[in-house]
Amino acid sequence: MKEYDLIVIGAGPGGYEAAFEASGLGMKTALVEKDAVGGTCLNRGCIPTKALLHSAELYKSAADAGKFGVCFGEVSFDPVRIRERKEEVVLKLRQGIEGTAKRKKTEIIYGKAVVEAADTVRVISEEDEELLRAKHILIATGSVPVLPPIPGSTLPGVVTSDGLLNETEKIGRLVIIGGGVISMEFAAAYAMLGTQVTVIEAMPQILPNLDKEIARSLKMQMTKDGVLIRTSARVREIRQEADGSLVCDYTEEAAAKDADAGELLHAEADRVLIAVGRRAYTEGLFKEGAAPETDRGRIVVNENFETSVPGIYAIGDVTGGVMLAHYAAAAGKNAVRRMLGLPDAADLKFVPSCIYTKPEIACVGMTEDEAKTAGIPYSSRKVLMGANGKTVVTDGERGYIRVVFEKESGKILGAQMMCERATDMISEFTEALTLGLTTEELARAIRPHPTYSEAITEALRD
Ligand code: NAI
Repeated sequence: MKEYDLIVIGAGPGGYEAAFEASGLGMKTALVEKDAVGGTCLNRGCIPTKALLHSAELYKSAADAGKFGVCFGEVSFDPVRIRERKEEVVLKLRQGIEGTAKRKKTEIIYGKAVVEAADTVRVISEEDEELLRAKHILIATGSVPVLPPIPGSTLPGVVTSDGLLNETEKIGRLVIIGGGVISMEFAAAYAMLGTQVTVIEAMPQILPNLDKEIARSLKMQMTKDGVLIRTSARVREIRQEADGSLVCDYTEEAAAKDADAGELLHAEADRVLIAVGRRAYTEGLFKEGAAPETDRGRIVVNENFETSVPGIYAIGDVTGGVMLAHYAAAAGKNAVRRMLGLPDAADLKFVPSCIYTKPEIACVGMTEDEAKTAGIPYSSRKVLMGANGKTVVTDGERGYIRVVFEKESGKILGAQMMCERATDMISEFTEALTLGLTTEELARAIRPHPTYSEAITEALRD
């Protein structure tokens, strides 16, 4: 039986970052993966969607380039090549992870891991089985899409994000069930590629977990871009017509109320994307009697990432809560360091969240509503991007930056941005929150001209 200090199960961003941290700190580490390294983020999530969005943005920019004095003639796109390019990007990054594993002396073992006891893992692959033993086991098995019990949801052409990322045909009409982050990113990409997109969201607003102002502004922008957004709507059934096209029957009442009442409305589609959330993935992971405590399928952990079974730890999507790659990666490093009694690598208190729509959305810390609920005397400032030089030069989307801060001290509480490059610029605010800076202190840094980030200085000062 092979012996390790640490066995990490799942090679997504949480798992591989934890394994590399452990190897770097001198632990003999095995990283077990049943599929491809990189997890959902690299193979079916963050990276492939951004590759799709990049192609869609290029197409849209080329189609609209005439107003900048650049003419291409007729612009078209090739969905097969878009998919191939996505595969190339994924492969390159996968090789990067495998290269880092070699350099760090982390052993990657391919196969399905089954935890048999607090210190024993069986790895089953097509060729063989092996038993591994370790002082610590870290579960980082991630999440899978939730499939709601909607009649017709198994029809051909009804897909999750996994399926849509492998699409090789031009899609004329796309209906998306759910109006969360995955929905908004696919809606943005497909709208740019000329698809008629309809979003059907059960709650009264899209992005129900986000700041109301951001959700309202995005709805306005998306609607302007031709996306049909139906809120407080419930899909009753997905049907297939004789010609193969799909129809979503839905009602528009507040879903929580009487779903049976109201007129039955219809949205036609060539593909239906289901994006109603993700759930922790632990299928077949534990031998009977070896499983730690769970809560609605999520593995329960304490502040040290320890599960109810001593020696077994868990991080990332499988523990529920914040389901973001960068959070899992930071938590993975901290978990390893806590196993060794070392100080944390990252402050997990302030987690930026980003949505890659057009324009981009990024938030960190508190919104005005959250400050109000917490009873903190706060103030906020908002700057519109319409007067920002770089935004005018690039004909960027209209948007804004809002900063929320303590009224008396000026200490920054949070920021919400909806503008070009918001996903890069949010890091300024994450740093400020982590360091406990005031608006005045953050405003002292000189920002280059002309840039989008100049608007941050403006938002910080009257
Ligand atoms: P989500 O939780 O963001 O949104 C799901 C939406 O579906 C909610 O608005 C919910 O009200 C709605 N919904 C639920 N049941 C419904 C029904 N039967 N009919 C209509 N609407 C319904 O989930 P999503 O978009 O699937 O994303 C999953 C996870 O992936 C998220 O937790 C997110 O953190 C992560 N993710 C993050 C990204 C980013 O940070 N850029 C990008 C993509 C995913």
